[in-house]
Amino acid sequence: MQVYLNGQYMEETQATVSIDDRGFLFADGVYEVVHIYRGRPFEWERHLARLHRSLAGINLTGVSDQELTEARDHLMSGVTAEEAALYIQVTRGTQRRSHAPPPAGTIAPTVLMWVRPVDPIRPELVQSGVAVITTADDRWAKVWIKTIGLLPNVLAKGKAMEAGAFDAVFVRDGMVTEATSANVFRVSDGVIQTAPVTNYILPGITREVVIELARGAGMTVIEQPFSADALYGADELFLTGTLTEVLPITRVDGRPVGSGSVGPVARELLHLLRRQAGIA
Ligand SMILES: Cc1ncc(COP(=O)(O)O)c(C=O)c1O
Repeated sequence: MQVYLNGQYMEETQATVSIDDRGFLFADGVYEVVHIYRGRPFEWERHLARLHRSLAGINLTGVSDQELTEARDHLMSGVTAEEAALYIQVTRGTQRRSHAPPPAGTIAPTVLMWVRPVDPIRPELVQSGVAVITTADDRWAKVWIKTIGLLPNVLAKGKAMEAGAFDAVFVRDGMVTEATSANVFRVSDGVIQTAPVTNYILPGITREVVIELARGAGMTVIEQPFSADALYGADELFLTGTLTEVLPITRVDGRPVGSGSVGPVARELLHLLRRQAGIA
């Protein structure tokens, strides 16, 4: 597989970064993942805009849209898979280890990009829905920045897997925030609900698109906080994310959700999302 690293294309085995890279030492960087459906990057502009917000959130400058777009097109041209993922990571760059960030513009950021075919979510998971557990949201207070510092997410995902579940849903002060790499929705009495955009969630692009699609189809969507208890009483629950798409949740902490099988709202929204992506 070819990767793009700091202005050059190379085989992944040739792509290395310094032990002094601030991403490696301090998780001092941000990232994006874009779903490519049949050679078309889905919602590229929104991903680019969020990347710039994340970069601004860590005071990192020096990454141009032209560089990102050219590398994207070059990397995509080598991939024939029906569905692929474009990964973009930008770190503050390489500098002798010091907590003090270098003044803006004094060192070049490290820009890494690759495109890999994705295995679509296994159809049986979409058919049956997945199990989740709840866990304390012990992340920092700037979750809206899509930072590569994902250790709490990694540990929570590991806890879910140990429990035989697919994912963990974070709960902060009794209220649901999101999952380890997806946003969380509930459906009750025909109303679709998800946590509002605050600094405690990542404003998912898929979340935004799904809300628009649902409203466009005449469904009611509210962006209001809900408690962990409200997960147990929901008619339906589902996750949204770039590669997760719309994934029904049918068990929470071992209890069945609604009827215990995939509900019509999640099914319809997955269909609308894939149609929007030009794949259904
Ligand atoms: C913590 C978290 N929340 C939500 C999402 C979903 O965001 P998007 O729909 O933009 O992929 C992600 C995606 O990786 C994530 O890491």
